Amino acid sequence: MSFQTIIEAVAPLTDTEHAAAIDVACAQVERNLPAFTYQAQNHSSVNNVYPAVANNQWTAGFWPGQIWLAFEHTADPVFRHAAQIQVQSFLHRIENRIETDHHDMGFLYSPSCVAAWKLVGDEDARRAAILAADQLIERYQPVGQFIQAWGRKGVASEYRYIIDCLLNLPLLYWASDETKDPKYRDIALIHARTTLANSIRPDNSTYHTFYMDPETGAPSHGATKQGYSDDSSWARGQAWGIYGMALSYRYERLPEYLDTFERLLDYYLTRLPSDLVPYWDMIFVDGDEPRDSSSAAITACGLLEMSDLVGGDRAEGWRDLARRMTGSLVRGYSVTDPAVSNGQLLHGTYSKKSPFNTCRGEGVDECVSWGDYYYMEALMRLKGDWSTYW
Ligand code: GLY
Repeated sequence: MSFQTIIEAVAPLTDTEHAAAIDVACAQVERNLPAFTYQAQNHSSVNNVYPAVANNQWTAGFWPGQIWLAFEHTADPVFRHAAQIQVQSFLHRIENRIETDHHDMGFLYSPSCVAAWKLVGDEDARRAAILAADQLIERYQPVGQFIQAWGRKGVASEYRYIIDCLLNLPLLYWASDETKDPKYRDIALIHARTTLANSIRPDNSTYHTFYMDPETGAPSHGATKQGYSDDSSWARGQAWGIYGMALSYRYERLPEYLDTFERLLDYYLTRLPSDLVPYWDMIFVDGDEPRDSSSAAITACGLLEMSDLVGGDRAEGWRDLARRMTGSLVRGYSVTDPAVSNGQLLHGTYSKKSPFNTCRGEGVDECVSWGDYYYMEALMRLKGDWSTYW
């Protein structure tokens, strides 16, 4: 079957399904407020239930992001109140640099604090997000021109960036706009170009991580941490690349970003099973490996972002595709019974151990907090008037 046939076999989300899905998602957020107003949600669920944890993981921003999306949809002040309590926790975290010595400042501070500033003018949120941007640019490595993802800065075995970081860059564009200091934007533009230059293989699949030579700054090699193997394409990494190229195009109209977005999408579509929700790594196209529903939610958001930036038939095609992907998530993956889960989207995969990768297995076939967030973001984007947190 051609991938066009596979895509067309999944019906686009209908308006009725869309309206019901947003209401169900917002009701789930409200139900979760007592457990997660003063605490964070774990990165992934355990038997489909998120435990409450301290605000010290890279994923903590996605839960307040869901609260803000619910606030936007309902205008109910109960959501604003809870999200602003979360903002105080994020301010405390960055002021005290609690588990912040890594690149995930955008994932943490865009959906929590940039959203709070944009939506309700919360000054503490603005301060926290600028401090987070300051922290992020400390990880910039001029030798090689990239933001180092994790680990001790400058050490050869840690001298790498990852494709996911494209989603951290909007925090830097925002910080330059807010402060009128171009230093954040300059680093974001350079990092995005480095990603474009190295992270995409000739067959349009992507490397998860990419190492640079710390002496010369020359590109060294691609590798995986959470994908199946160094030469496979991790399904979420491919999705981060798709959405990341759209966001890069938003902030710098390089034709290469648009072209690469299309190439990454082409690869993605050829590796999908019949319900348009990929297995956790795109080396798998059938069988009983776990899915990563979060990859589909992220890709839908990328499609809708790029549709907003370009007009014409291409944009219409991408919107249609996003509606089909979201339709599949709503019908087959979303949580409709709170007795089953306190999350939004079932069948995500955080990190699956393989003989060839370096992660430890966790969050396999579970809800994952970014899957929940991007699922809700896709639903809000489909309403048509959503202003980005990114
Ligand atoms: N950014 C890490 C992940 O997607 O698991």
